[in-house]
Amino acid sequence: MRSVLPELDRAATMPLTAQISAFFARAIELGRIPRGDRLPTIREVASGCGVTRATVQDAYRELARLGLVEATVGRGTIVLGEGGEPREDAAPTSGSRSAKAAAGTTGERRPLSPFATAALRRTLEMPGAPELAAGQPLVANFAELAPDSDRFPVAEWRAAMDAGLLRHGPELLGYGLSAYGLEELRTAFVGRARATDPTVTVDDVLITGGAQQGLDLALRTFCAPGDAVVVTAPSYHQMFGLLEAHGLETVAVPFRADGLDLEQLARVLQHSRARLVYLMPTFHNPTGRTLDLAQRRQLMDVVAATDVPVVEDEYQQSLRFRGEPLPSLRSLDPRGLTVTVGSASKELFPALRIGWAIGTADVLQPMAAVKRFVDLETSPLLQAALVQFFASGAFDRYLDELRAELERRHATLHAACERELPAGCRVTSPDGGYLSWLDMPRAGQGDRLAELCNERGVRLLPGRAFDPFDRPSSGVRLSLTRADSDQINAGIAVLGECAREIAADPVATPFL
Ligand SMILES: Cc1ncc(COP(=O)(O)O)c(C=O)c1O
Repeated sequence: MRSVLPELDRAATMPLTAQISAFFARAIELGRIPRGDRLPTIREVASGCGVTRATVQDAYRELARLGLVEATVGRGTIVLGEGGEPREDAAPTSGSRSAKAAAGTTGERRPLSPFATAALRRTLEMPGAPELAAGQPLVANFAELAPDSDRFPVAEWRAAMDAGLLRHGPELLGYGLSAYGLEELRTAFVGRARATDPTVTVDDVLITGGAQQGLDLALRTFCAPGDAVVVTAPSYHQMFGLLEAHGLETVAVPFRADGLDLEQLARVLQHSRARLVYLMPTFHNPTGRTLDLAQRRQLMDVVAATDVPVVEDEYQQSLRFRGEPLPSLRSLDPRGLTVTVGSASKELFPALRIGWAIGTADVLQPMAAVKRFVDLETSPLLQAALVQFFASGAFDRYLDELRAELERRHATLHAACERELPAGCRVTSPDGGYLSWLDMPRAGQGDRLAELCNERGVRLLPGRAFDPFDRPSSGVRLSLTRADSDQINAGIAVLGECAREIAADPVATPFL
């Protein structure tokens, strides 16, 4: 048998190990390497692809961990089966379906659901934030959108946990008995939401396991496999895998400097099987852009002519450091079909895993019912501690400092971009949040910029990672969660140098 070998893209941000494992996972899925066959030996792949054996070994280990292959003594690495629809000859395995058991020793194919299959594939293919080459010193980190752990209020949080336990006693360690969450916390969220959503009441609030669970619950509640979901292009990349796992088609509407393309939105709502619209109206991920009031109104006029629910993801809304808060899309929806999801992950810390969904009873009741069967409830212990954290004033102090720091970082970024970037580059200047987006004049140049920067110690994510269809992008995302003023200045100097090189030789940019 002729060996199937991956073609590796050394310029790509995806590590070689991940490229190799993704290639074989796909080949197995497509049946190009059938169950029971042997993968090429580690030596063959290493010499055929010009990589070390350790790199291939790591890739094969990942495939084994995912239950797609099994390393045997004497026979090499054997394909256990792909994760798509079960084949007729595949006997279901009994007992535990954990990844370890699934990787079993019988060579039988695992009876995986389409959800798990898509999730596994996306996990394998997801490039993640690019790592620097060994020995390359870090100049600036603009990659992760995860708050800086150095700033976390550890002592105040410990006090809040204590206060929560003292107040409620052992009762707090039981089930909280409401899928909606603790009433005190929901009341606290109402107070915070009123600035953008004046009519919200405690009955409109459901506590979720982070914003991610809010998004998942909305998809489970409103969509069925085969439906389409409208997203912006670009958009939050973790949403793409979730849509695929739910068997949903993605329809994209451009979100550019001049706003959301509402004509395109009206067309897709009319002509596609769209059953949900997913938007981030404030400090959008990845661009940091915000829809102004006029655009919010026009958008809701377009949607109001349909019965399609809207999910607005306000994951960073409380991080505004300039200007007045804008009305939520929910407050502009006379149909009562918009759900606002939010999160404590960016304003406080992600390990809390607390978010919220706000909606009318018509949308919230079914979402709460679905949540009940997904996880019963969000940890009452952590909810009670958050109530205490709010009550002690620690949250307001922390948030004020964070906003002030973000304002400083954005100002530094903006000044550095004015100084360092060549003509034709544009950077967004948001009024809050961690993100900014830098555009070069042509598609593909953003992806090339991310690669060049990475080679020179500046970590950032290429715009392509946020395109729903993996198309070349003109932009890069700059996250300010980790980069202080010194890193911002040093990083943008490097970025400017790379952008000038690309601008001087536009034809050399790959992917055009
Ligand atoms: C736009 C957006 N929505 C939702 C989430 C998930 O947030 P959480 O940690 O609250 O689940 C993220 C995380 O980065 C995000 O960027």
